[in-house]
Amino acid sequence: MTDHREFVENRFKIHEKDVVDSTNDELKRLISRLPETPEYTVIHAKRQEKGRGRRGKLWVSEEGNLYLSMLLRPNCLLSKASQINFVTSLALVDLCKDYGLSPKLKWPNDVLLDGQKVSGVLLESDADLKAHVNWLVVGVGLNVFDAPENMPYPTTSLSKMSGKTHDMNLLISNFLGYFDKRYLNWKEHGFNELREDWLKNSAHEKGKKVIVNADKRITGTFETLTENGALQIRSLTPGKELMTIHSGDTL
Ligand code: BTN
Repeated sequence: MTDHREFVENRFKIHEKDVVDSTNDELKRLISRLPETPEYTVIHAKRQEKGRGRRGKLWVSEEGNLYLSMLLRPNCLLSKASQINFVTSLALVDLCKDYGLSPKLKWPNDVLLDGQKVSGVLLESDADLKAHVNWLVVGVGLNVFDAPENMPYPTTSLSKMSGKTHDMNLLISNFLGYFDKRYLNWKEHGFNELREDWLKNSAHEKGKKVIVNADKRITGTFETLTENGALQIRSLTPGKELMTIHSGDTL
């Protein structure tokens, strides 16, 4: 297993908190107080009282799991910055593989172990009038010890799947190490390699049914991930036309 600790300590500035409402909100407050807060500032909390998921959902945040938010300044347009969803979920895939697990990715950025959700990513941003990103807050939740119950989808945890206990500090630095490697690669070479890696680790198979929760519910068969990170599906209607979906969740 790769140990990223020394590299990460030099690069990231991690603020440790016992409890916050949401690490994303805590980081956004820091940015509004100190607008020059540098890239690679991270808030890590042991517990969140108002953890937020995508599409306004709650993210159950008991002690024992990983909750962190990173500040990035990728110097690009908002449309491109959304690809950082894939940078992040692939870094989580790298991390899970360190424990001998076989993670799969559900569009856009859920990591699944044995078909059950183990992590989620919540991106929030601020941009200028020309849609150039001022800052990006990347929130990451990873079930390490606890798999929240009674969720609308099946969940699991790293410990449950690996049968091991995990040192939180080591997990954080290994995740940040993998993240940084993929982030720098994306900045230098673009989305292509990420797209290929995403497809290699995809939970979706070409031709298999996929249900998308976007503005409305759409059913089709999985076709591919486009070169911008959108989901392409083929409709089930007689015309079998291709549809490209830029935002939403797959069920
Ligand atoms: C999802 O719905 O899949 C995204 C979940 C993201 C949860 C993380 S936990 C750390 C950060 N703070 C939040 O309030 N949400 C994100």
